[in-house]
Amino acid sequence: MTPDVQLLTRRRLLSRVSLALSGLAAAVVSVPIVAYLLSPLLQPPPEEWRDLGLVTNFRIGETVEVAYDEPSPLPWAGQTARTAVWLRRTGDRDFTAFGLNCTHLGCPVNWRPGADLFLCPCHGGVYYADGSVAGGPPPRPLVRYSVRIAGSDRVQVLTKPLSETISQASG
Ligand code: FES
Repeated sequence: MTPDVQLLTRRRLLSRVSLALSGLAAAVVSVPIVAYLLSPLLQPPPEEWRDLGLVTNFRIGETVEVAYDEPSPLPWAGQTARTAVWLRRTGDRDFTAFGLNCTHLGCPVNWRPGADLFLCPCHGGVYYADGSVAGGPPPRPLVRYSVRIAGSDRVQVLTKPLSETISQASG
């Protein structure tokens, strides 16, 4: 083997070793970043029962917006962690809760008691009182939440993180 060929081989070897070490360093640096970015997708979203108030705060047949803090895992969420449901008392101890967000693109819907409809101000989506779609672009009914009476007189809703609720609502 001539010195030129030896040099070429050594240069090629060093080049490959350098490339491999660079790839390894990039992988070591990027693993925590990728894990951080994917962590919301990898963790099952926490669901928590949130208190909405006394049963007697709500009149049978009425649908009202009730605010609560969603169980966001992000400590810096601040005001964005404040959300709400449309809560309807349907009997002495029976309640129905609908998500606030339209299933089209997530705008908050409004309840119109005179018309018995939920209206979305963004693109004219309309939902019947049971949350099913009456018209407009929404592809699915409003999201429904489980409701329970805790103890003898506290209404509670089974929540999801806001991000989960919006993605569920908008598809
Ligand atoms: S976001 Fe409600 S109709 Fe488009």
